Amino acid sequence: MSLFGKAVASALPAMPRRLVHSVAKRYIAGETVESALDCVERLNEQGAAATVDVLGENIETLDQAQATHDEYATLLASLDERGLDGNVSIKLTALGLHQSVEACEGHVRSLCTIAAERDNFIRIDMEDSSITQATLDLYDRLRAEHENLGPVLQAYLRRTNADARKLAEHQASVRLCKGIYIEPRAIAWRDRTAVQKNFVRVLRTLLEGGCYVGIATHDELLVYEALALVEDLELAPEDYEFQMLLGVDEEMRKILIDGGHRMRVYVPYGASWYDYSLRRLKENPEIATHVAKATLKR
Ligand code: FDA
Repeated sequence: MSLFGKAVASALPAMPRRLVHSVAKRYIAGETVESALDCVERLNEQGAAATVDVLGENIETLDQAQATHDEYATLLASLDERGLDGNVSIKLTALGLHQSVEACEGHVRSLCTIAAERDNFIRIDMEDSSITQATLDLYDRLRAEHENLGPVLQAYLRRTNADARKLAEHQASVRLCKGIYIEPRAIAWRDRTAVQKNFVRVLRTLLEGGCYVGIATHDELLVYEALALVEDLELAPEDYEFQMLLGVDEEMRKILIDGGHRMRVYVPYGASWYDYSLRRLKENPEIATHVAKATLKR
């Protein structure tokens, strides 16, 4: 990110919410479940599936965790009733992991049951490294009962290829991404090329092990490497999918769909859109610059 981009990104929290919203709205479906469903419908018409995320990571009480669970239950029912091609992505901290592991596990179990009744799937997003092991452990306990559940691995973590090998033992469904949190160098690669190389290495481990992989990246080099790998391994289009965030590189999305590859778009919605939008904006200097220009024009 350029110095200017970095400066703008760090100033974003001080900017008016309305202004952030005007630039950030491309990354979020809206505040309501209906807005998310409409967005999924549009994506389906463009040949993409979706995975829907209810925004709201920082919960403090088990009542809030219950409310998140209930929102996901409504979402799963609505996706089914409208005949849409979309699953859901959950965050364990939004389902009470910090308050009670038992309660959180109960919510995930319940969502898996609801999803199974509707032939649907639950993806557990991976959060920061303080809960990597707890997340994989919870997944491991539930996978014996529920096949329609899968974790996310982050290529920046040094442990990840070992985790991939374990998941490949039972051909798990895994999303692979670079990782979005700021982690200590002792446990995570910082160098961009090292992260890219580890992404490819882990992807190979997963695909050779027979895992269904959600290849979640907008990095053109990684898209190239992934395409080369699926060709070398002679995989069929139903053995993997690409995944991208709503609002990011729609041109690449279309190229992959037109090339006959499965595509799934991550669709976040909810009242907590502001924190999510700030995270997205901080990652992209180009967009941060648009915010700066809009601010200067006011
Ligand atoms: P890179 O960061 O190099 O991006 C390549 C290009 O894409 C950039 O140059 C930029 O133009 C564009 N771009 C990328 N991200 C952008 C953004 N947010 N806004 C605007 N433009 C952007 N992480 C995590 O820790 N846990 C998780 O569970 C998930 N889940 C997840 C699901 C899906 C579907 C995706 C695509 C990503 C995630 N991530 C995630 C985030 C992931 O770890 C990573 O931070 C981002 O995808 C950015 O990395 P890229 O591989 O896209 O490369």
